[in-house]
Amino acid sequence: MPIIAPSLLASNFLRLEDECKMLNESDADWFHLDVMDGRFVPNISFGLPVIEQIRKTTKKFCDVHLMIEEPERYAEAFKKAGADQLTVHIEACRHLHRNVHQIKSLGMKAGVALNPHTPVEFLSDTLQDIDTVLIMSVDPGFGGQEFIPHTTQKIRNLRRMIHDRGLDVLIEVDGGVTEENATAIIHSGADVLVAGSFIFHSKDPKATISKLKNLD
Ligand code: DX5
Ligand code: ZN
Repeated sequence: MPIIAPSLLASNFLRLEDECKMLNESDADWFHLDVMDGRFVPNISFGLPVIEQIRKTTKKFCDVHLMIEEPERYAEAFKKAGADQLTVHIEACRHLHRNVHQIKSLGMKAGVALNPHTPVEFLSDTLQDIDTVLIMSVDPGFGGQEFIPHTTQKIRNLRRMIHDRGLDVLIEVDGGVTEENATAIIHSGADVLVAGSFIFHSKDPKATISKLKNLD
C-alpha cells in the first residue's frame, strides 16, 4: 500500500486545526508541508511558525518540502519547528552532499526533490546517502496543476537505479495526483503519493484519502 501524504497547501487555512484533526483521523500517513520563498518558485506559501503549530496537532510524520533557495540556512530551524523529513531541491543546492549530511546530522530524514526537467541520473552519486527522492510531476510553486505524463518514465528509471544498487530509498511523487493516475504512478514504482487539491477539494477528504490508500 502506498504512503499517503496530503499536502496542506490545498487545505482551508482558516480552519487549519480542523484540517489537521481530519488528517489525524484519516488513513493519511504523512503531513506534506510545502514551503515556498518567492525566489526558487514564483509563489510564497507558509513557513516556520505555521509548521510549529501544525506539529503540535499531530504525531504523524511531518514531511517538509522546501522550495527555497539556500535551504541550508534554515535546516536547523525546521528541525526545531518539528520536521521529521526535510526535502531540498537539487536545483537549489550547490553543495548537495553537504546539505544532505547537515539534514541527517540534525536527526531528520533527508529528501531530495527533482524538478520535471531534472534527470534522475543526476542523483547517481547521492542516492546511497538519502532517504527519499521526491519526483515533481508538475512545475513546483502551485497546487492544482496537471500531472506531467512523462513522470511515470522517470519513476520507472529511478526504481531501476534503486533496485540495481540494492538501496532502500523511497520514491515520492508530488503534483497533479488523482484517483485516475495514482494506480499508474504506483505501478511505475512510487512509494509515496502527495496529493493536495484532489483530497482537500473533494466532498469527503477522509474518504478520498482512504480511496488513494486502497487502490491496487
Ligand atoms: C507544488 C507542491 C505540491 C502541491 C500539490 O509545488 O509541491 O505539494 O501542493 O498539489 P496538487 O496535488 O494540487 O497538485
Ligand atoms: Zn510538495
